[in-house]
Amino acid sequence: MKVLSIFGTRPEAVKMAPVVKKLRENEMIEDKICVTAQHRDMLDQVLDVFSITPDYDLNIFQHGQTLTQITTRALEGLEKVIKEFKPDILLAHGDTSTTFAAALAGFYNNVRVGHVEAGLRSGNIYSPYPEEANRKLTGVIADFHFAPTEKNRLNLLNEGYNDEKIFITGNTGIDALFEMIEDDFKFNNELLDNMDYENKKIISMTAHRKENIGKPMENIFSAIKEVVLKNKDVEVIYPVHLNPKVREIANRILGDVDRVHLIEPLDNKAFVNLQAKSYLIVTDSGGVQEEAPSLGKPILVARRETERPEGIEAGTAKLLGVEKEGIFNEIDLLLNNQEEYNKMANAVNPYGDGKAAEKIVKIIIEKLS
Ligand code: UD1
Ligand code: UDP
Repeated sequence: MKVLSIFGTRPEAVKMAPVVKKLRENEMIEDKICVTAQHRDMLDQVLDVFSITPDYDLNIFQHGQTLTQITTRALEGLEKVIKEFKPDILLAHGDTSTTFAAALAGFYNNVRVGHVEAGLRSGNIYSPYPEEANRKLTGVIADFHFAPTEKNRLNLLNEGYNDEKIFITGNTGIDALFEMIEDDFKFNNELLDNMDYENKKIISMTAHRKENIGKPMENIFSAIKEVVLKNKDVEVIYPVHLNPKVREIANRILGDVDRVHLIEPLDNKAFVNLQAKSYLIVTDSGGVQEEAPSLGKPILVARRETERPEGIEAGTAKLLGVEKEGIFNEIDLLLNNQEEYNKMANAVNPYGDGKAAEKIVKIIIEKLS
């Protein structure tokens, strides 16, 4: 049985790494990996840390690439790979432009499509943009929907999908997380190794959503600045996404603020271990929302809506919106009210038990052999 795994950005690589590993271990499967390289440096960091060598690298990355460029270049490159390898099924992950291009390439070339991380919905086609649309478009094409949670399954059922093609597996991101977390992790990074995690309140943060670029992102960063100025025991560590638009706003608002450390993107092992050592997490990322609950860290989500409500229902995540005052108030509350903090700092696993990849590979074999 021939399986082609396709991914292109940092989060897809993190979450496909456990799947690729399980495919490789299975003797019934001949598997190949194709990266579009929609991301370059941020993808390569993940490939290195999980020791993955792609069989095909489309290298489509260009600075300032538009959605159209990503989609068309990926689609053309993928068609050639599909024609050469002739897979029985291809696997695409999540909601990026690579995901949608991979599904479409499968459809155009009569190859079955397995959608890993299917069924997440914010209910707003413009947020996350363009991810909500990418995920829905991929769902329309997919033959197998690997849904992380029951809620994701219900989203698909509500849209009329056949239950026989939906499989609840948990999120493969949790498999990756469990593999990367280490007690007494050493970063080999002066700043991170010398940070006083016991006595300081470390906030780790990320921000990159396209719909937040502009005023919302300025609000998030201004709120962080105010939090740091007011709370002298806080240090913020922010590995800044390589998108130049994000970097410009981060440098402008946070570049000269004491106790705010703007650093380069971390490899995944360093990043998840930093989360594990932090006091709380502020983010607009999707994947980070899934990791923090397993680590027992309160996570504050700087967005208007989320397609990952499970963390909020479990009580470890809060949706802050994108107004400066609301963001400041919620972070300040958690820093200064122990009772509120304790309510959120519980390790829960709404996104899976760390065995999602194993389940996905088992289902593929059962259904295709
Ligand atoms: C993409 C995904 C988004 C995902 C995010 C994860 C789409 C439309 N968006 O958004 O769903 O949440 O990745 O991080 O698929 N850049 C580099 N080097 C890199 C990566 C990016 O320099 O390794 C810069 C480039 O200038 C690039 C820009 O970042 O043009 C934006 O990258 P792009 O892949 O278009 O979108 P993201 O915002 O990263
Ligand atoms: N991540 C990482 N290094 C960083 C920041 C994030 O390895 O410096 C990981 C994080 O642990 C998670 C994934 O990247 O697994 C999330 O990716 P991102 O926030 O770029 O995209 P999203 O999940 O929002 O699509």
